[in-house]
Amino acid sequence: PEAITVQELANRMAEKGADLVKALFKMGMAVTVNQTIDQDTAELLVTEFGHNIRRVSDADVEQDLDTTEDREEDLQPRAPVVAVMGHVDHGKTSLLDALRGSGVAGGEAGGITQHIGAYQVTMKDKSKITFLDTPGHEAFTEMRARGADVTDIVILVVAADDGLMPQTIEAINHCKAANVPMIVAINKVDKEDANPQRVRERLLEHEVIVEEMSGDVQDVEVSALKKTGLDDLIDKIQLQAELLELKANPDRAAEGAVIEAKLDKGRGPVATILINRGTLNVGDVFVVGAESGKVRAMLDDKGRQVKKAGPSMPVEVLGLSGAPMAGDRLQVVDNETKAREIAEYRKGVIHQKRTAQAPASLESMFSAMK
Ligand code: GTP
Ligand code: MG
Repeated sequence: PEAITVQELANRMAEKGADLVKALFKMGMAVTVNQTIDQDTAELLVTEFGHNIRRVSDADVEQDLDTTEDREEDLQPRAPVVAVMGHVDHGKTSLLDALRGSGVAGGEAGGITQHIGAYQVTMKDKSKITFLDTPGHEAFTEMRARGADVTDIVILVVAADDGLMPQTIEAINHCKAANVPMIVAINKVDKEDANPQRVRERLLEHEVIVEEMSGDVQDVEVSALKKTGLDDLIDKIQLQAELLELKANPDRAAEGAVIEAKLDKGRGPVATILINRGTLNVGDVFVVGAESGKVRAMLDDKGRQVKKAGPSMPVEVLGLSGAPMAGDRLQVVDNETKAREIAEYRKGVIHQKRTAQAPASLESMFSAMK
């Protein structure tokens, strides 16, 4: 039997929490909005307020979400999603900056990357590559795991002077676990004490055999500082991408993954979404994890407003009911009622998991209040 807080029930019913408390009081129950009531009481309340009882289940949720496989003939080529990973300070952000021709690394507080940055870069040949910057700091294991999860290709950045370090090895393990192909970028080769060959040898110990060592993992020597080896790196990314034959259907209800989400003081909840398939439009109604919303505005990686976002594009989405969790999936649905129902249902499920022993009976509710 399901226990639910008065407030949650009120949300599901689109009624005021205080009105439910009043009704409960008339029924002889003194509870606050934050307290849980049992299912029978909840049903009584729902009937009292003249709502139809609609118990949303996992199966109902699935029905409302379009999870059908796309037909082969609807698929179109999409840009590769490439995550840049490696140990702290090995030059991930600098390399990405060099590839983008901009200057983000210099602008970061203390130079330490603290979140996943998502960018789409147009190459000289007009093809696009989506890059995810990840932090190398040891505290960010989970972000690296997430980075490897949503990507097609990982660029493993290893500083040629420093060599293999703990987060290099951890990133290798994430790639293996996620079964994502890797390209090794041996960075800082401009430095006097750079030893690229040593990096290749040490990689052998972790079963990463680069081309230079007669293996099949592509490797390239670069200097983000001197901007050398960059064209070579791009060629290798494009070669790897071609092998993967990346495709998605752009003409369907959008689906994406939350890269990051936050509560912005001025703009409210904001989520960076990487679109996997379909096209997300301003005005689209969606569920994302246990939140719902309607796209009020979308911003690209340069902060420009966009009206639509297709496969492999990262966008900042405004218009959410709350901040979802990184890794949550976004799915477009028909209407706001459905979206709210699914989100509230998922909130209920999450809540039940958190409060395994919620007071379910009247007696236990009163004893809990003492
Ligand atoms: P985290 O995000 O904190 O993990 O670091 P990061 O890997 O993004 O490193 P970042 O790009 O911030 O660079 C770290 C330092 O290395 C900076 O001082 C860069 O200027 C320097 N650096 C990066 N690439 C090169 C390079 O190719 N050559 C030299 N000499 N220095 C570099
Ligand atoms: Mg960085």
